[in-house]
Amino acid sequence: MSNKQRILVTGGAGYIGSHTIIELLSRPGFEVVSADNYSNSSSETYRRIKTITGKDVAYAEIDLCDRQAVKKLFEDFPGITGVIHFAAFKSVPESVEKPAAYYRNNLVSLINVLEACTAYGVARFIFSSSCSVYGNIGSLPVNEDTPVAAAESPYGYTKIAGEQILKDFTVAFPSLHAIALRYFNPAGAHPSGLIGEIPLNRPNNLVPVITRTAIGKQNEVVVFGDDYDTRDGTCIRDYVHVCDIAEAHVLAIDYLQKNAGAKAYDVINLGTGSGVTVLEAIKAFERVAGKPLNYRIGPRRSGDVIAIFSDSSKAHRILGWNPHHALDEMMSSAWKWELHLAK
Ligand code: WQD
Repeated sequence: MSNKQRILVTGGAGYIGSHTIIELLSRPGFEVVSADNYSNSSSETYRRIKTITGKDVAYAEIDLCDRQAVKKLFEDFPGITGVIHFAAFKSVPESVEKPAAYYRNNLVSLINVLEACTAYGVARFIFSSSCSVYGNIGSLPVNEDTPVAAAESPYGYTKIAGEQILKDFTVAFPSLHAIALRYFNPAGAHPSGLIGEIPLNRPNNLVPVITRTAIGKQNEVVVFGDDYDTRDGTCIRDYVHVCDIAEAHVLAIDYLQKNAGAKAYDVINLGTGSGVTVLEAIKAFERVAGKPLNYRIGPRRSGDVIAIFSDSSKAHRILGWNPHHALDEMMSSAWKWELHLAK
């Protein structure tokens, strides 16, 4: 038995999961098992992780909604000391069209993994949550005491419900300690240019829409409204580099492993604290790519919050987390990944 912490990463072949695995493997005390069903990813990601880190990832193709399969996973990989749970569908518009698929997939998989944790004595759990739990906010920046709002979509509700399920498990099983990390807008890619947002389904998120337009896969970026009450009329978001998000997950699981006095359940925001408008994001891309982007102003997108950005002082205080990749680096790394995909 190695003296390393064996961490199960669910959704490990996906965008944030794969970047988190790289962060885990870059530190001496972790080994990784990844579980993914490739619904929005591919096992090719593990080969790219090996190229980047020189290390193998143990992995299993599994539907986490299959309770017996999850039980077998924990038996096949004994000694798991912590779980980082990314596996979930994440498209807001798709969740509006397919609520049953989103509630079933995102909640049943979470419950199955949590049940296995309690059955196999896994005491540390990090949950991939979202700033979408805050909805449209009155006062900014948002901190963890900002009340959770009524969900704007089934996807958003699976994060609200997921946090509640997690909290309830920590009450029922006092040995289980958990942190829900509420991401703001993850963007960018690993500096190697070998991994990034997985291009399986047409993206809705702004940054991949920008890079796909710039490379010619889409003919334009439609800016969803420029008549909002913001400095340039377009919506404000808190973009945070995926490598910073990944580092926060490692800090969080390490924090729980090393702090017996940690709260049984806690929530922590992951944002930079800087609000960026859509037009500012587009200008940043044009600056780093050195080319103009074809975009036009279109109608508002329903469900968009006008502005949201984070007060992440709690992440700094508890985890020692300091996001250090600026917007230009998010854009340049996203562009490098898009160029790699085009090879
Ligand atoms: C950003 C801004 C759009 C596309 C998403 C997830 C949410 C959370 C954060 C995971 C908005 C504008 C976008 C386009 C545009 N992720 N936009 N034209 O909606 O803030 O939230 O990321 O937990 O759950 O839904 O991200 O990138 O879709 O939009 O004008 O073609 O860009 O209106 O203002 P969003 P986004």
